[in-house]
Amino acid sequence: MRVLWTTSTLALVASTALSTAAMAQGEVNIYSSRHYDNDQVIYDEFTERTGITVNRIEGDADELIARLNAEGQNSPADIFLTVDAGRIWRADEAGLLQPIDSEVLENRIPEHLRHPDGHWFGMSQRARIIFYDKEEVENPPQTYEALADPQYEGQICIRSSSNVYNQSLMASIIAANGEEAAKDWAEGVVANMAREPQGGDTDQLRGVVSGECDIAVANTYYFLRGLDGGVDGLSGSTDMFGWVFPNQSGRGAHVNVAAMGVTANAPNKENAVQFLEFMTSDFAQSYFANQNNEYAAVPGVGLAENPASLGLFRMDDVNLSVFGENTPRAQEIFNEVGWE
Ligand SMILES: [Fe+2]
Repeated sequence: MRVLWTTSTLALVASTALSTAAMAQGEVNIYSSRHYDNDQVIYDEFTERTGITVNRIEGDADELIARLNAEGQNSPADIFLTVDAGRIWRADEAGLLQPIDSEVLENRIPEHLRHPDGHWFGMSQRARIIFYDKEEVENPPQTYEALADPQYEGQICIRSSSNVYNQSLMASIIAANGEEAAKDWAEGVVANMAREPQGGDTDQLRGVVSGECDIAVANTYYFLRGLDGGVDGLSGSTDMFGWVFPNQSGRGAHVNVAAMGVTANAPNKENAVQFLEFMTSDFAQSYFANQNNEYAAVPGVGLAENPASLGLFRMDDVNLSVFGENTPRAQEIFNEVGWE
């Protein structure tokens, strides 16, 4: 392995296995909090088409943000990828991303799924919806607001308020209904919880299977993974579930995005823009979304069989910047009402 002991690569070489030629021409370096082996197909196709090598460092989003901060101007990262709008917003607030002016990106990605000045772009959409036990729940909640209805007392499983998906959901409720109504809502949901918040989205669905809960809030792809098989405590029991895409007569179901931005100090900025543009191609969109049972960000790209089986629905098209903007208040409200 060739090692370039320049100051700019030192931190990188010391701490990771990323190619030590990362600063050379012909490469693009991605810090990614998404880790699917199948993403490699997309990276290989990009390399095939452009000759640009893709290097990836995967990690927890908050750790990658801390790392970008620590590396500062010497960071080899060109692109930061997260699986929620809240964290990419946080990275942007910290000055870690730069504006990108690209007609391709502006034309392909709908306006509400990207930063107004091109600091980040949504690449796939995930819906956070309501699942329920068909035997136990005759009138499932049709809106997020209805989760606070006393008729569901002791029935609801939803994860903790420290989870960024719930923070974004709460941020969207603040945007739709205002802070006071959002607080009343949170109080009502806490009163309806079947148990203290625990585990991830899959655990909420498992709670329905085990009978601990009758209603669960989860991102669609967690349920769809269960359909694919191999998910302990869920696969084999998916027939007992009904689901509701909430707020279909109003603003639509809450969606979040996997998003990418070009880093403030990207050493390979042009390659990074090329990569983002490639990510909006039909090929990359369908692959990126479908392999995790998500919805493409670019309109008109086909659905995979699993998400298609859930049916079509109306998505909330609030600009995702509000998730980040409202998250501090969302967290305060969660704390005020004792949503752990
Ligand atoms: Fe997730």
